[in-house]
Amino acid sequence: MRTLIPATAAVGAAGAALVGYAAVIERNWFTLRKFDVPVLPPGARPLRVLHISDAHLTPGRRRLMSWIRSLDDLDPDLVVNTGDSISHQESVPYFLDSLGPLLDRPGVFVLGSNDLYAPVPKNPMRYFRRSKSRWWERRVERPLNAD
Ligand SMILES: [Fe+2]
Repeated sequence: MRTLIPATAAVGAAGAALVGYAAVIERNWFTLRKFDVPVLPPGARPLRVLHISDAHLTPGRRRLMSWIRSLDDLDPDLVVNTGDSISHQESVPYFLDSLGPLLDRPGVFVLGSNDLYAPVPKNPMRYFRRSKSRWWERRVERPLNAD
C-alpha cells in the first residue's frame, strides 16, 4: 500500500503534465513546413503552393488566426485547404477573417469532417471499453446545420 500511493500520485502528476502540455504548448504550436518538389520542367517558373489543413479553429483563438493570416506573406501562387478548418459552429466567420488576403489568391478546398459536424463531448474512458459498434457504422451525431 505504501508504494501504491506514490505510484498513483506519479501517474496523476504525469497525466496532469500531459494535459497541460496539450492545452498550452501543443495547442499553440503551429507548424509551417517547406518542401521543394522538383516536378516542373527545367526552366519553368517556380510555383509556390500553400497547403493549409487542420486548423480546427474555435472562436477566440487569436494567435492561430493571426498566424494563418501571416501565411499570406509567403506569397503563394495557389492555396490548397484540405479541411478541418473549424471545430466550432460559430467559427466560419473567424476562419474567413483569418484567411484574409489569401482569399484573393487562386485556391481550392475540400471540407473535412470537423467542417461538417460539430464536436460532441465524449467520455474519454470509452476508448478503454470494448465497443460492439464498428467505427465505420457509427451514426452521425450532430450536423453543423442541425440548429
Ligand atoms: Fe483534423
